Amino acid sequence: MENALNMDTVRLSDDLKHVVLLDQTLLPNETKYLTLDKAEDIWEAIYALRVRGAPAIGVCGAYAYYVLANQIETENMDEFVELCTKMMEYVNSSRPTAVNLSWALNRMHGVLMAEKDNLSVADMKVRLMKEANDIREEDIQISRNIGQYGFELLEKLGKGVGVMTHCNAGTLATAKYGTALAPMYIALENGWDGKKDLHVYCDETRPLLQGARLSAYEMQAAGIDTYVQCDNMASYSMKEGKIGIIFVGCDRVAANGDFANKIGTSGVAIIAKHYGIPFYVCAPSSTIDMTMESGDEIHIEQRPANEVTETWYAKRMAPEGVGVVNPCFDVTDHSLVTGIITEKGIAYAPFKESFEAMGIKPVEKFVDKK
Ligand code: MRU
Repeated sequence: MENALNMDTVRLSDDLKHVVLLDQTLLPNETKYLTLDKAEDIWEAIYALRVRGAPAIGVCGAYAYYVLANQIETENMDEFVELCTKMMEYVNSSRPTAVNLSWALNRMHGVLMAEKDNLSVADMKVRLMKEANDIREEDIQISRNIGQYGFELLEKLGKGVGVMTHCNAGTLATAKYGTALAPMYIALENGWDGKKDLHVYCDETRPLLQGARLSAYEMQAAGIDTYVQCDNMASYSMKEGKIGIIFVGCDRVAANGDFANKIGTSGVAIIAKHYGIPFYVCAPSSTIDMTMESGDEIHIEQRPANEVTETWYAKRMAPEGVGVVNPCFDVTDHSLVTGIITEKGIAYAPFKESFEAMGIKPVEKFVDKK
């Protein structure tokens, strides 16, 4: 079983003309990379969760911006800007909840707007490639920092701790290391024995099984004592005293600390509060959207009904014609959150003040405006 840390979730191809993605819909049974350079194929890869996880789709968005901008055949900067704007809006429409996609596209477009009067189109393309590579490299460092802060919490709880997580916020969801699973990778680097010192409980994460297929794979391949539990078993494990801490990722954090993450996260937080288990959200600062005051403003992606009724089943498992709810994310109230681990440190309530003290500010938006 290949350690997922050795897999590139998303990168630029060696010929510098394609986005290379690990197709996560096939894991853990098959390891296949896609090499894409068409806007529609990149859109489909993000929509279909071939690449998924907020930071990873941010990095993918940055490379998509560069790869597609690089194909634009004009030397006229105004025309280049107009075509980049359209392309960016199209890529951004693939998934609405994770702010990292629009964050990365906004950052790429911000470079274009800031430097368009000083560079030729050809030089701008080189500049955009550098920005996309920087976004990927920074994501690796950010994830390591989050892992380090999370590891310090594990150290306080002591070896043998049980960690619960929901969905996949591991190395597969970022450029490397992950957010919610990064503390475990850092623990191994610090000499912890994965079989004795860590016990990781992965919620299966209906309906697309990111916990069973991806988190369980990552943790097991890294040599950690790993368990998969159906989502409705989380309360049982907490009551049994198996869980010392919960780490989850997030797709968008509002200024007050409310956050969207994979559907089911809010239930985990409510149960954790009941049992007094510390509940931490792992959030690169790019996931913190200071333009949104509360979680009420976060748009929740709705997904096709067949993901609930058919996907993964040998036969359809719900009657034809039945109504289906399939929200992809839910919003957890900030009152349920013990702390938000960022690459700059751990934010505690009141979260807005804590974010501001870390220098986290609203970013300029060209797409994903209110
Ligand atoms: O629908 P997905 O698989 O993209 O959902 C992913 C999550 O909810 C993750 O927890 C979140 O994006 C953080 S990934 C570091």
